[in-house]
Amino acid sequence: MRIPILDLREEIQAHRQEFLGAFESVLDSGQFILGPNVGALEKEFASYLGVKHAIACNSGTDALIIGLRALGVQPGDEVLTTPFSFFATAEAVSLIGAVPVFADIEPESFNLDPQQLEKYLTPKTKALIPVHLFGHSADMRPISDFAKRHGLKVLEDVAQATGAEYKGQKVGALGDLSAFSFFPTKNLGAFGDGGMMATDDDSAAELCRMLRMHGSRRRYYNEMIGYNSRLDEMQAAFLRVKLKYLDKANEDRRQAAARYREVLQDIPGVTVPSEASYTKHVYHQYTIRISEGRRDRVQEKLQAQGITTMLYYPVPLHRLPMYDVPSRSFEQAEKAAGEVMSLPLWPTIDPHTQLEIASAIRTALQ
Ligand SMILES: Cc1ncc(COP(=O)(O)O)c(C=O)c1O
Repeated sequence: MRIPILDLREEIQAHRQEFLGAFESVLDSGQFILGPNVGALEKEFASYLGVKHAIACNSGTDALIIGLRALGVQPGDEVLTTPFSFFATAEAVSLIGAVPVFADIEPESFNLDPQQLEKYLTPKTKALIPVHLFGHSADMRPISDFAKRHGLKVLEDVAQATGAEYKGQKVGALGDLSAFSFFPTKNLGAFGDGGMMATDDDSAAELCRMLRMHGSRRRYYNEMIGYNSRLDEMQAAFLRVKLKYLDKANEDRRQAAARYREVLQDIPGVTVPSEASYTKHVYHQYTIRISEGRRDRVQEKLQAQGITTMLYYPVPLHRLPMYDVPSRSFEQAEKAAGEVMSLPLWPTIDPHTQLEIASAIRTALQ
């Protein structure tokens, strides 16, 4: 593999001494789970977002599961969400016994289309999960207005968009609660699994804290069935280093995206990602569309030249076996699944590598 989809070695090398210092301080402290680094990371992350509470846990998936329960979603409730996301978004809903109900996406942002929500509303609808896919914010104002009108809770899935903004505010600070992932490939990635919940709501925050610790406030005085979902000190210490450089890394991603736009936008058959005026995109992925059934052939040609690309996502969630209802279709999500292709992108990607990728795409489409 000559050009990988993601290469973090340079970024890690740049802060190597700080990571090693963080590692040694945790070793010396003798505290490994939910210690001072987790507490400090929670404070720093809450202040980065501009929210009252941040509660760390062990993955983005758990952040969604615990977040849904903390918002009072019960078995049998319906949760409106997008069919064009990573599986965990819907899986979390199913895992608590609730039902994901899909609504189609906007073709430009790949995110939940606020105009589509009304028709899926039923007396059982309890909450909404907008996903800020690829680093582009969902259109939160109409989504929140819809939720308020119908008394629904909003849980933002921010796994792919840490640091992105909606109308000048950080995403993850806009709904009732938000769920972040620190999976290593994410914009703020740990060196293992990790996640975070964020909220302004004191009682939801208290529930998140209990649920991540076997449903207890005090050890051995368990009050509800919860989870073992804690962040460890090592990951928290690494994440505290990385959080300091997140905005710069996101800015570098934006610059890399601007360079891609320049060299890709005039290629016939390619649609480059758009950035709505309401968002600051942080390009977790740089996802283009290739029209007229040519995507798979282009991907194969690139692969033959050692250029790795990914299909996020080749199957929309409503077409996976556990959710498939053959009579139901979502036109935009299905079209996107047939056209998307994500290109190599990381903060320090070399402009020459990007040029090489663009010219390989141009040639493949000729
Ligand atoms: C949109 C979305 N939601 C949730 C998750 C789950 O996060 P994690 O892998 O940390 O469990 C991911 C991770 O890939 C994701 O992309």
